[in-house]
Amino acid sequence: MAPPPGDDGECLHPGLAEPRTKEDWFTYVFYDPPSRPLLPPYEVYLAMDDAERRRLNRTRNRYHSALVLAWTPAVQHFETEITELLAANEMAPPGARLGLLIDGPPTVGKSTLVKMIARKFEQELREDFPERFAPERLGSYVPVVYISLTDQVTPKQISLAIARYLNVPTSGTKDIIDDRVLTALTASGTQLIIFDDLHFLDCAHKEGRASNDHIKFLANHAPCTIVGTGVDLENSPLLSEGGPAVPRRRSDRTRTPAPTGSDARTQTAGRFSRQELAPFTLDNDDSILQWVGVIRSLESSLALYQHEKESLTRRHWRYLHERTDGSIAGLHALIRRSAVRAVQQGTEAITQEIMDSIVLSYAHERAYAKVTELKSRQTTRAAKQKQDGKRAAADGSA
Ligand SMILES: Nc1ncnc2c1ncn2[C@@H]1O[C@H](COP(=O)(O)OP(=O)(O)OP(=O)(O)O)[C@@H](O)[C@H]1O
Ligand SMILES: [Mg+2]
Repeated sequence: MAPPPGDDGECLHPGLAEPRTKEDWFTYVFYDPPSRPLLPPYEVYLAMDDAERRRLNRTRNRYHSALVLAWTPAVQHFETEITELLAANEMAPPGARLGLLIDGPPTVGKSTLVKMIARKFEQELREDFPERFAPERLGSYVPVVYISLTDQVTPKQISLAIARYLNVPTSGTKDIIDDRVLTALTASGTQLIIFDDLHFLDCAHKEGRASNDHIKFLANHAPCTIVGTGVDLENSPLLSEGGPAVPRRRSDRTRTPAPTGSDARTQTAGRFSRQELAPFTLDNDDSILQWVGVIRSLESSLALYQHEKESLTRRHWRYLHERTDGSIAGLHALIRRSAVRAVQQGTEAITQEIMDSIVLSYAHERAYAKVTELKSRQTTRAAKQKQDGKRAAADGSA
C-alpha cells in the first residue's frame, strides 16, 4: 500500500502554513529543516540510473527549497531587543508593559524574523526548564502565542484567534471569551504574544479602532510582552490618530525613528516602541558587508556539484542587490530557484546566466527594470560624451 502523503520518512514542512494553534507552534519549534544531503562523488552521480538520480535530485530540491534562514544583523538586533524586553517585563507590575512594533515594507522578512526569535526563545526555555514541558504537563505551558491577523480584524476575532490557539472554548460573548483568554494566558505561563500583520487593524473602520483598543486592553491585562509586526505602522492609528508621518529612509535597517511630535498619540503609542526593518542597502562598507554576509551564508549551504565556491559572494553581490532590490525574500527566492534549475539542467552551478533566466516577483522585476534602464541611459550618455570629446579633439587639431 502506498504510504500516505508525507509519511515517507521525511516530515512535511511545518513552515508551509502559519501556526494557528499551540500544537502547530510546537511543531514549528521542533521542526528541523531537511539536512544537507550527502552527495556521492560526481562520477558516481553521473553513472546512476535515472530513478536513483531522480531520487537524489528530489532530496536536493527539497533541501534547496528550505534553504537556510540567515541570522542577519537585523535578526540579531531584534533578538536582543525582544530578549531584553521579555526579561524587563517578566515580573513587572500589571499596566503599561512596554511592547515592540516592527515596522517594514512587504516581504522584508518581518514574520520570519519574529518566528525565528520566538522559536529560539522557546527552545532555550525547554532546555533550561525541562520540568515545565514534562509529558504530564503536555500543552499546559505555552510560553509563546503567535497570531497572524487577517484583514479588517475585529476585537472579537483577535480574542477568538488566541482562544483557538490555546484550545479554549470559543462560544459566548466577547466579554466571556476575553475573560477566558486572559485566564488561559495566565494559566499557560505565556510570556510572549506575537501579532503578525498588525496593519490589518484598519482603523478607518469602526471595528479597526475597537481592535486597536483591544490590543491596549491585552497589553494592560495579559501578563505578557506583546510584539507586533506590520507594514506602515507609523501611519496606523495604533501609534497616532492622524499625526504627521516621519519621512522614511532606507539607510539604516533597524533605525529607531524620532517621535513625530504629534499630540494625537493613542494609548497604544505609549505602550509600544517602534523600530523599522528595511531592505538591505549598499550605502557604505558596513551595509555592503551585511549584504555580502547574507549571500555567503546562503551560498555556502548549496548542494551542487560544480558550483564555484563563493562566486556569488565575491563576484555577483552587486548584481544580486540590483536583481532583488536588497530584499531578503528576493535573494532567498532567486538562490532557491536557481539551485533547483541548476540541478534540473545539469549545470550544477549557479551562474549569472541561470539567475538571468529566473523571473522573480513583479515588484522585484519592476525594480530591476528601472536599474537596467538607468544603467543603459548612463552608458549611452558616457558613449556620447566620449564621441563628442573625440570630435572636439579632431576639430581642434584640424
Ligand atoms: N532571515 C532570513 N533568511 C533567509 N530568508 C529569509 C529571511 N527572512 C525572510 N526570508 C525570506 O523572505 C521571505 C519573506 O519573508 P517574510 O514573509 O518574513 O516577510 P514579511 O516582511 O513578513 O512579508 P509581508 O509583509 O508580506 O508579511 C521568506 O519566505 C523567506 O524566503
Ligand atoms: Mg509577514
